[in-house]
Amino acid sequence: MTSPRRYHITTFGCQMNKADSERMAGILETMGFESVAEPDAADLILYNTCTIRDNAEQKVYSYLGRQAARKREQPNLTLVIAGCVAQQEGEQLLQRVPELDLVMGPQHANRLQDLLEQVFNGNQVVATEAIQVMEDITQPRRDSQVTAWVNVIYGCNERCTYCVVPNVRGIEQSRTPAAIRTEIVALSQQGYKEVTLLGQNIDAYGRDLPGVTPEGRYQQTLTDLLYYIHDVPGIERIRFATSHPRYFTERLIRACAELPKVCEHFHIPFQSGDNAILKAMGRGYTQEKYRRIIDTIRQVMPEAAISADAIVGFPGETEEQFENTLKLTETIGFDLLNTAAYSPRPGTPAALWSDQVSEVVKRDRLQRLNHLVSVKAAERSQRYQGQVAEVLVEDQNPKNPTQVMGRTRGNRLTFFPGDITQLRGCLVPVQITEVRAFSLTGEPVLMLSGAPR
Ligand code: SAH
Ligand code: SF4
Ligand code: F3S
Repeated sequence: MTSPRRYHITTFGCQMNKADSERMAGILETMGFESVAEPDAADLILYNTCTIRDNAEQKVYSYLGRQAARKREQPNLTLVIAGCVAQQEGEQLLQRVPELDLVMGPQHANRLQDLLEQVFNGNQVVATEAIQVMEDITQPRRDSQVTAWVNVIYGCNERCTYCVVPNVRGIEQSRTPAAIRTEIVALSQQGYKEVTLLGQNIDAYGRDLPGVTPEGRYQQTLTDLLYYIHDVPGIERIRFATSHPRYFTERLIRACAELPKVCEHFHIPFQSGDNAILKAMGRGYTQEKYRRIIDTIRQVMPEAAISADAIVGFPGETEEQFENTLKLTETIGFDLLNTAAYSPRPGTPAALWSDQVSEVVKRDRLQRLNHLVSVKAAERSQRYQGQVAEVLVEDQNPKNPTQVMGRTRGNRLTFFPGDITQLRGCLVPVQITEVRAFSLTGEPVLMLSGAPR
């Protein structure tokens, strides 16, 4: 059989999946495949999947069903399912969709070439055993030419009672500071201006690496990593996600304030504003501790943007407990809050609890919280009105070709008039003239030559 030559990847889920897809696309291109946007035109289809909530998982099956039908007509089509549904379901997926050629978990992303070679030799392959993640040897094919994801720690050792991530992403595995720095240096040489360091629980970075300081702390922490990579020339902005309130340190806040390239934006999910629910979730902090973290950030960096995730309708959540989430949302004033109705997940403790909240109540709570979130986000946007914000230009505005778009340091999406061919990758001071809850519009401020950024 001659190997197919055109590939299509659809990515579901979080930034880790996006980063994995970019690496898998890089592997396919070094194997001689070319990318196509239209799945029906591809000879190899890869779905990189998410199972964080039931609706995410169901979406995968509907996509897959369509391509499995196509494969019955075109037996040369190669069908690959990667990511978290693949890891969760493993071999069972082959029973459900016998047309699949390859089922591969997230830890196997960098092994795609090896796995596909087994497929092209006529095998149906399942790769879901726990392994040491292979250090990346391929050039990822990145979606952006300006901003790049950099994995720093894979997996998660927490056991939040609602969450599938530890089951599907495995135990924590930190990359070495040297490997991370090498990747960032290469990115800067390719013209990238911004990097986002990624981990499901990024505060755990370095715990599994050797070395302890005389004061008894781990030798390599996220804070140390920020200092270690900060001077890479050409990289103008550094971000990181996701932070866990249980491990978030004041030392990290101080480092962010001190290091000019680290953006004033923190993504710290709180999940619930109620202490009993937080305890049942196994989160390991109280809402008071969460508030203290935010207070400290705001003392040190008054301008910092704060975003988070929250879940409504966790088993046993009463109206009063939900109102504690509303209160926290109200008083903190998030720039962005990702909200979700609790979804029972296979293999997690909370899914088996008897005090599940009804779908009607969950939906109602979600609506009420979402309403508050947009009111508060609109308030937070007001502080940009009339200000000059530094925007890193990423792309053309897809809805208005006379405009370009990028983000402020606080991560607000911002549009302004300009030509993308000249401005891509530039840091432009933009005077904000219009504010909306989750985006801004402005006019570029004329730069004098040689003026500082
Ligand atoms: N590691 C991050 C988040 C990982 S998952 C953290 O610890 O915060 C991304 C978000 O999905 C979570 O923050 C949570 O808000 C949501 N989530 C996870 N499991 C969920 C479930 N079973 N039902 C609904 N939302 C869930
Ligand atoms: Fe899931 Fe908790 Fe790990 Fe986040 S910290 S990925 S919510 S188990
Ligand atoms: Fe989804 Fe897996 Fe990310 S379950 S949220 S793609 S870690």
